[in-house]
Amino acid sequence: METRLLDAFAEEYKQLLETELRKLVDKLIAPPIIKESMIYSLEAGGKRIRPLLLFATLDAYSVDPKKGLFAAAAVEMIHTYSLIHDDLPSMDNDDLRRGKPTNHKVFGDAIAVLAGDALLTYSFEVIGKISSDFASPDTLLKVIIEMAKAAGSEGMVGGQVADMEGEGKSLTLQELEYIHIHKTGKLLRFSVLAGAILAGATESQLEHLSAFAHHLGIAFQIQDDILDLVGNQQLIGKTVGSDTVNHKSTYPQLLSLEGAKEALDKQINQAKVHLKKTGLHTNLLEEITDLIASRDH
Ligand code: IPE
Ligand code: IPE
Ligand code: MG
Ligand code: MG
Ligand code: MG
Repeated sequence: METRLLDAFAEEYKQLLETELRKLVDKLIAPPIIKESMIYSLEAGGKRIRPLLLFATLDAYSVDPKKGLFAAAAVEMIHTYSLIHDDLPSMDNDDLRRGKPTNHKVFGDAIAVLAGDALLTYSFEVIGKISSDFASPDTLLKVIIEMAKAAGSEGMVGGQVADMEGEGKSLTLQELEYIHIHKTGKLLRFSVLAGAILAGATESQLEHLSAFAHHLGIAFQIQDDILDLVGNQQLIGKTVGSDTVNHKSTYPQLLSLEGAKEALDKQINQAKVHLKKTGLHTNLLEEITDLIASRDH
C-alpha cells in the first residue's frame, strides 16, 4: 500500500475541514453575533490535531478519510468550545488564544459562553450528518455516545473541574494524571476511537487504539504544560506562564522540567507499543505521535 506522508496529508485534510467548518456555521439561521463569535474561534487557526487523528485512523484502515469529515468537524467544534470556556475570566482568565485575543475579549463573557454552548450543541447535529451509506444507525449511535462521554463530566468537563479545584493545591502525580487524562486525553482518545469505530475495528484493535490514544493524550498535555513554562509566545499563540499565575499543578511543577520530559517520553513509547499491536498501516498515526512529542506549538 502507498505510504502517505503527514505534511501533504495534513494540508489536504485541514483545508477540507476548514472549508466545511465555515460552511456549517454560514448556513445557520441565527443572530449574526453568535455566528461571528463561533467562526472567530473556529477560524483562529488551531493545529487541528483531533481531526487529523480521526482522518489518520480512517487512513490506517484504508477507508477514505473524507468519510469522517462530519465527525472531525464535530470534535473540532467541541474542542474549540472547551478553549473558549477555558479562557474565561472565571476559569484560566487568558487574553490570548491561537495568536488572537480570546473570544470573551472580543465579544464579551456572555457571548463567549453562548458561543461555546452553541458549538457544543451543534457538534451533535453535525455528527448526525454522517451518511447512512457509510455508518449504520447502530454504528453512528455508538460514535455519538462515545463523543458525549468524552466531552462530559466523565470526560473533558470532569478534567476541567478537577483542574480548577486543584488550583493552589499541591496534587499527587496520580491526581494530576486524572486531570490530564480527562481534560485533554478524552477528546484525543475519542478522535481515534471515532475513526476506528467508523472503520469497523475489531475489539482487540479498539483496545490497543484506545490505549494508544490514552498515552498520547497524557503526553500531549505534558508538552502543553512544558510549553506554558518554556514555550515561545509567538509560536504557541497563548500567554506563556499562565499556569504559574493560576497556581496550577503541572508536570514540570511536580517533577521538574527534566522529569516532565522523561514522563513525556515514557508516555510516547507506551503509545507506540500499542499502536504497533493493532497490526494496521499506522505510519500517519506514528508521525502524529512524533509530532506531539516534539511540538513547539
Ligand atoms: C490546547 O489544545 C488545549 C489542550 C487541550 C492542551 P491544542 O494545543 O490542540 O490547541 P489548538 O487547537 O492547536 O489551538
Ligand atoms: C485545557 O488545558 C484543556 C481544555 C479542556 C481546554 P489548559 O488550560 O492547559 O489549555 P491551554 O494551555 O489554555 O490551551
Ligand atoms: Mg485550563
Ligand atoms: Mg488554559
Ligand atoms: Mg496549558
